[in-house]
Amino acid sequence: MKISAGHKILVTGGAGFVGSHLCAYLLNLGCHVVCIDNLYTGRRQNIEPLLANPKFSFHAFDVCSPYDFCVDAIFNLACPASPVHYQEDPIYTMKTSFFGALHALELAKKYDIPVLQASTSEVYGDPLIHPQTEDYWGNVNPVGIRSCYDEGKRCAETLFFDFHRTFGVKIKIARIFNTYGPHMLEEDGRVVSNFIVQSLRAKPITIYGDGSQTRSFCYVDDMILGLVALMESDTSFIGPVNLGNPQEFSVKEIAEIILRKTNSSSVLIYKDLPLDDPKVRKPDISRAKEVLHWQPRINFIEGLQSTIQYFQQIL
Ligand SMILES: NC(=O)c1ccc[n+]([C@@H]2O[C@H](COP(=O)([O-])OP(=O)(O)OC[C@H]3O[C@@H](n4cnc5c(N)ncnc54)[C@H](O)[C@@H]3O)[C@@H](O)[C@H]2O)c1
Repeated sequence: MKISAGHKILVTGGAGFVGSHLCAYLLNLGCHVVCIDNLYTGRRQNIEPLLANPKFSFHAFDVCSPYDFCVDAIFNLACPASPVHYQEDPIYTMKTSFFGALHALELAKKYDIPVLQASTSEVYGDPLIHPQTEDYWGNVNPVGIRSCYDEGKRCAETLFFDFHRTFGVKIKIARIFNTYGPHMLEEDGRVVSNFIVQSLRAKPITIYGDGSQTRSFCYVDDMILGLVALMESDTSFIGPVNLGNPQEFSVKEIAEIILRKTNSSSVLIYKDLPLDDPKVRKPDISRAKEVLHWQPRINFIEGLQSTIQYFQQIL
């Protein structure tokens, strides 16, 4: 489906970091946007500028319970996404992953509409192949402290595929790799936001491990275009598809870049690596390039600029 003015789109988790950018993008296209979010990790400020738009409606609601909105497509993003928040109440994280997916799928089945699942690179766990391709089944600890999220998201993917095989539901699965940009929470322990906030406050920058572990970061505007391209792709293409930026940095390099960009006097300090922390993470995005004709356009330095500006404003 080509998303255009007049379409009514449901975004679960729409008051969160990625969700709020997606809602704004869809409104700009002229769509009606129904945003469901219980503000567990999302914030009203993220959607404040959208509330005045008559095409936008916000419903403070938990996706662990069923809901019914007659819409043309669903983006299912509701789920705490950073380790700090998803480990706070792991049972709730698992419930949100499973019941959130189930209820989105039931609605998609009822109205015969496409539903996109925001899955994650965490389904690859601590990967044994690098970079990660979609046909890699992952190396995931099922009983660790990250499992509520990793296994929750894996379980959601399974449910999506089973609804597709059993009922022919039009599914789309995006495996999102680390994304950054304005609207991230300042205290959620993600690398980019953590380092920016620590630098701006002239506090020590905490690096877990020796900083040689690698990450790749996609700017949120690029991610939104990827998610929309996936929703608009042919019904026969269901994914999973990696969405992320393959530009790879060590965590120490990221800290040094942010220190320079913020002119900060912060020093680097080293702490023990958390359990099951992946050592490498970089998407192979060949499938997204080939099928969706999508690839990130905004390089890390460019994206950092607006992210730093955002944190300068809110701190
Ligand atoms: N940001 C990333 O780097 C990244 C990477 C991989 C996958 N993802 C996925 O993308 C989605 C959005 O991530 P994000 O970074 O914007 O996280 P976020 O925490 O900012 O957004 C998630 C939103 O879901 C809402 N939510 C959580 N549980 C809910 C529930 N039970 N009912 C209703 N709303 C609920 C939260 O309040 C929040 O607004 C998540 O599903 C996440 O797993 C994000």
